[in-house]
Amino acid sequence: MKKVLLVTKASIYENDIAFFYQILLCKNYLEAREKLEEDSNIELAILEEEEGTEEFLDYIYLFPNLNIKTLIFLKQKSTKNMRTYFKKGAFDVTDERFNPLNIFYYLDKMENEDKTRNYVKKLEKNIRTLNNEIDEYKVLYETTKILRLDLSFGGIIERIIELIEMLVGGKVLFILNHNYYSAKSEWDKLILLKKVLKHYNVFSLGELSKTMPGYEPFEVEGSKLYNFPIIIKNQLQGNLLVLLDRSNKIEERQAELINNILSQSGIVIENAFLIKEGEKRNIDIVKSLVKAIEAKDNYTKGHSDRVAVLSIMIAKEMNLDDVKITELEMASVLHDVGKIGLSENILNKEGKLTDFEYKLIKEHPQKGYEIVSQIKDMKKIAMIIKHHHERWDGFGYPAGLKEKSIPIESRIIAIADTYDAITSDRPYRKGKDHEFAIGEIRKNLGKQFDPIIGEIFLSIDKNLF
Ligand SMILES: [Fe+2]
Repeated sequence: MKKVLLVTKASIYENDIAFFYQILLCKNYLEAREKLEEDSNIELAILEEEEGTEEFLDYIYLFPNLNIKTLIFLKQKSTKNMRTYFKKGAFDVTDERFNPLNIFYYLDKMENEDKTRNYVKKLEKNIRTLNNEIDEYKVLYETTKILRLDLSFGGIIERIIELIEMLVGGKVLFILNHNYYSAKSEWDKLILLKKVLKHYNVFSLGELSKTMPGYEPFEVEGSKLYNFPIIIKNQLQGNLLVLLDRSNKIEERQAELINNILSQSGIVIENAFLIKEGEKRNIDIVKSLVKAIEAKDNYTKGHSDRVAVLSIMIAKEMNLDDVKITELEMASVLHDVGKIGLSENILNKEGKLTDFEYKLIKEHPQKGYEIVSQIKDMKKIAMIIKHHHERWDGFGYPAGLKEKSIPIESRIIAIADTYDAITSDRPYRKGKDHEFAIGEIRKNLGKQFDPIIGEIFLSIDKNLF
């Protein structure tokens, strides 16, 4: 029951209004002060105006319990007094007659206002929570959307990072199986990562994963760092690091959401990871194939790797996506794998080749296709290999494809292959210099080579070769 202090000289029966309230009746302000000092639970003081009302308001204003509300019944209508009392912090002032009915009416009104205010407060809080929840559902929805998209491994990680960055307004690093990923290659993230490694006195990301503490944030050089372990199949596979300004923090709710996103993404990350591992396995098969040719042919030794590096340089200038670049890399490394069936005599022959020998050599793109297309998931790469000797003008082999009907990756390899062939030493001649090779390629733009890719190749800084 609410405690109400009632200060009046009038004879009033507190029982008339005491039904819902506990009324503490005082005849004057001195008594009222004593009551207030004795009882800290008084919530409301109802005063009948008299000498000393102003001072009493000042006293209440300074009183430790700031929540006491005051309601003043004026002796007679006076706007000036009304204003003074409001200024001194009165909750309400009325010129209604001071009697039990009006007191009761005011108490009821105040009670309702309180109720409404609390209700609005509650409502506001609910709306805030709801809004947060909507945001969180949006993030979760985005996560499931990403997971449904057929993105590459890097693509999935990048989108997850972007989402979490959006959610907490910090920077996110994704460490998985000793590699790190970030949404953009931001140097400050890398520098910070280095600092984290230094902080823990470890030298590898794998070691860091094991060393870092759990959810409690820790400070590194002015930033707050949160660590979310990534568990796949009950094993710690990596960490999601969130870097925030020292003044920011991750709420428990957000932390739950991040864990939720990570566990939802777990299977997809794992699959993408397995695909990547599969790709790596394929690369290993490819490498052993290349070694087999290299063993027979001195020239091919190193040539395939150099063609791969040049091809990737061109592809990056062209802004090709990661998937295409990976395929291009494998195709470049393997482009001459079809030479594996040729005899060493032909491969290392110093003099001019006979027509028959030349015919055999020209079979290598088709042979390469036949070998590589046997490997699981490498059909696309096999096609790129098949067409690396096609010409832009349609006079190449084996299919005589023309212009854009030649796979873009094959058109890239054709240029890189020619450049390396011209600049490498052969058993019968020394390699030519960079300028000469560039000149040859320029001469053949629109004939042997795609003119646009050729221009891009020619625009690469000489020092990068
Ligand atoms: Fe070739």
